[in-house]
Amino acid sequence: MLDAPMLSGDRFRLGTFSTNCSSGMTVTKAPERWVNSWENNLKLAHMLDEAGIDFMLPIARWIGYGGETDFHGGVLETMTWAAGLLASTKNLTVFATIHTAANHPVVVAKQIATIDQIGGGRAGLNIVAGWNKPEYEALGLTLPDDHETRYGYAQEWFDLVRKLWESKEHFDWDGQYFKAKNVKGDPWPVHGGVPIINAAGSPQGREFATDNANFLFTPAIDLERSKAEIVELKEQAQAKGRAVNVLTFAHVVCRPTEAEAQAAVDYFVHQNQDTDAVENLVRLQFAHAHSFPHDLLAQIKHLMAQGHGGYPLIGTPQQVADGIIRLHETGFAGTTLSFFDYAEEFPYFRDTVLPLLREAGIR
Ligand SMILES: Cc1cc2nc3c(=O)[nH]c(=O)nc-3n(C[C@H](O)[C@H](O)[C@H](O)COP(=O)(O)O)c2cc1C
Repeated sequence: MLDAPMLSGDRFRLGTFSTNCSSGMTVTKAPERWVNSWENNLKLAHMLDEAGIDFMLPIARWIGYGGETDFHGGVLETMTWAAGLLASTKNLTVFATIHTAANHPVVVAKQIATIDQIGGGRAGLNIVAGWNKPEYEALGLTLPDDHETRYGYAQEWFDLVRKLWESKEHFDWDGQYFKAKNVKGDPWPVHGGVPIINAAGSPQGREFATDNANFLFTPAIDLERSKAEIVELKEQAQAKGRAVNVLTFAHVVCRPTEAEAQAAVDYFVHQNQDTDAVENLVRLQFAHAHSFPHDLLAQIKHLMAQGHGGYPLIGTPQQVADGIIRLHETGFAGTTLSFFDYAEEFPYFRDTVLPLLREAGIR
């Protein structure tokens, strides 16, 4: 196991998700929605770093989902975003999210090694094997219809990245998808590698994740299902002599009273929903990916608008803490958090919910 901060200790991991994207995780027209400026990201990162939050995870997105707001139409590129944040923080792990088909592995190996040096060993890599067809078309790429090809390509891509991180000598690569002559990875990541995340949902993707990732990211829609899913994934990894932890993502609306939290949901999600963008988001997820259970569509549409499908943590600080404790009891190793406005709302979460999690012994 690598000696990276994200991989040591057994606290319930907390991070943020999608702060690099316009509107964050909520598909809303409300003018108070998240503004993904560098200034806001930096301000938030400083607060997270000081509060002992573990990581920040960005979304890599090349075209938005349309609608009036063009949800996720504005996106800070994740490798350069991570470099800037790693240079400006002390303890946070910062992930870059990389589409295998759009980024050459020799380039990515060096970029990650470089940002890992910038952060003194705090970089991470989220590998996306591809699912969003219009986005592939925007880049002039062809998304293979079958998951075998997508993940076969991703496997060779990551094998080459890993070899560049592990080998101290020049080598040649003669694979099915990549050829490389006389390459070497210098510089290398500080710990010899970095924490790897993958968010596969399909059986082929889960093979990839249990073969390669430290963390598999999966939605928490029905915690009973999640419980069984986590056991199965851990067993699948164990059978290969590996350990994989499972993370999820959650959307926080924390207010002094439950009524205030519900009023905020009503304002952002019901009164001001960007319904066209939600339709597009759900249609694309269901057409090309297997991350969300297809039989829970109605429930998922509401959750998609509210927090991009994230587990709802809505209510008073105690209710939000109880929800996080439930995720822990389900077997998740951690969760990301999103907020309508991260920088505005994180301080209240920090001051009221984090102490309850410490009291409960999970932080
Ligand atoms: C937590 C999480 C993070 C994700 N991040 C990205 C991302 O940044 N960019 C992207 O194109 N897709 C992202 N996805 C989508 C997944 O990569 C996609 O759903 C997955 O590839 C589908 O799994 P499958 O290929 O096994 O069907 C994310 C999904 C989840 C659940």
